[in-house]
Amino acid sequence: MTRIGIVGFGHLGKYLYEKLENDKNFEIVFVWNRSEIRDCDSLDRKYVLTNLDDFIKHKVDFIIEVAHPVISEKYGDKFLEHAHYVIGSPTALANQDTLNKLNAASAKFNKKIYVPCGAFWGANDIKKMAIQNTLKGLKITMKKHHTSLKLEGSLKEKLEKQSNWDSPLVLYEGPVRNLCHLAPNNVNTMAVGALCAQNLGFDHVQACLVADPNLTDKHVIEIEVTGPFNEKLNQNFKCTTVRSNPAIVGHVTGNQTYDSFYYSLLETLDDVNSFGIFVC
Ligand SMILES: NC(=O)c1ccc[n+]([C@@H]2O[C@H](COP(=O)([O-])OP(=O)(O)OC[C@H]3O[C@@H](n4cnc5c(N)ncnc54)[C@H](O)[C@@H]3O)[C@@H](O)[C@H]2O)c1
Repeated sequence: MTRIGIVGFGHLGKYLYEKLENDKNFEIVFVWNRSEIRDCDSLDRKYVLTNLDDFIKHKVDFIIEVAHPVISEKYGDKFLEHAHYVIGSPTALANQDTLNKLNAASAKFNKKIYVPCGAFWGANDIKKMAIQNTLKGLKITMKKHHTSLKLEGSLKEKLEKQSNWDSPLVLYEGPVRNLCHLAPNNVNTMAVGALCAQNLGFDHVQACLVADPNLTDKHVIEIEVTGPFNEKLNQNFKCTTVRSNPAIVGHVTGNQTYDSFYYSLLETLDDVNSFGIFVC
């Protein structure tokens, strides 16, 4: 049985707890949240950690962060001393020091770091191209209703200044790296893209964040991939996907993204129990 600790008990943490708690292959050994957990009858209180530093008192195989990017910065390397680490807020990895620290701990303690692809469509195809250096460009555009955006710093000011919501507002265009700390909860998908596109990375994968007043029932993500130029045929390889995910206005994440996150966990955590055909 795989022993799991969950760090963060908001929408995603609760969703994962309920799924994993009902699966005989997994045992939840602890759940931590920054504030007291009040609204979950199905949670057995014996699992609740009041101080996150006490995670070391538990024997745990995987620790899943679904709270905030700051957790990876403060605890990621400590978790990796004891367990494999699943990161739900990969915008944390746009900070090169955090990324270096976690990679070093992963190598030192022989533990893996997993980042579920969530809403990032086509991750495997993009990874294949990046590894072979045939990925020449990647642009990720995320469009959400303005009430679904939780922004920081200059982007927060830009959004607050906008009073006339007749048309979409482009909040940011540029490298993914500079956007992650300004929209830490909204652009995990872009961070996943920058990690998949390892030959381009956070500085060369392009981001575009749009607040769109018309998107009252969905989040839209466009991914534009550019591959090598074929001189004979005078054109590049190109692939564009548009993911339209039904989402209630004001919500940060659509339901299909929770399901995608959970499936990534099943693939990762249940690996040893799996058999049969694998499409790879
Ligand atoms: N990768 C993905 O596909 C994906 C999908 C959904 C959410 N997320 C990310 O996972 C995290 C949780 O998402 P959610 O939808 O459950 O959000 P949520 O707001 O419902 O819950 C977040 C929880 O983390 C806690 N928290 C908030 N700020 C914190 C901080 N600075 N330090 C410690 N704890 C803090 C809150 O108390 C809350 O219980 C967010 O960072 C979100 O961006 C990732």
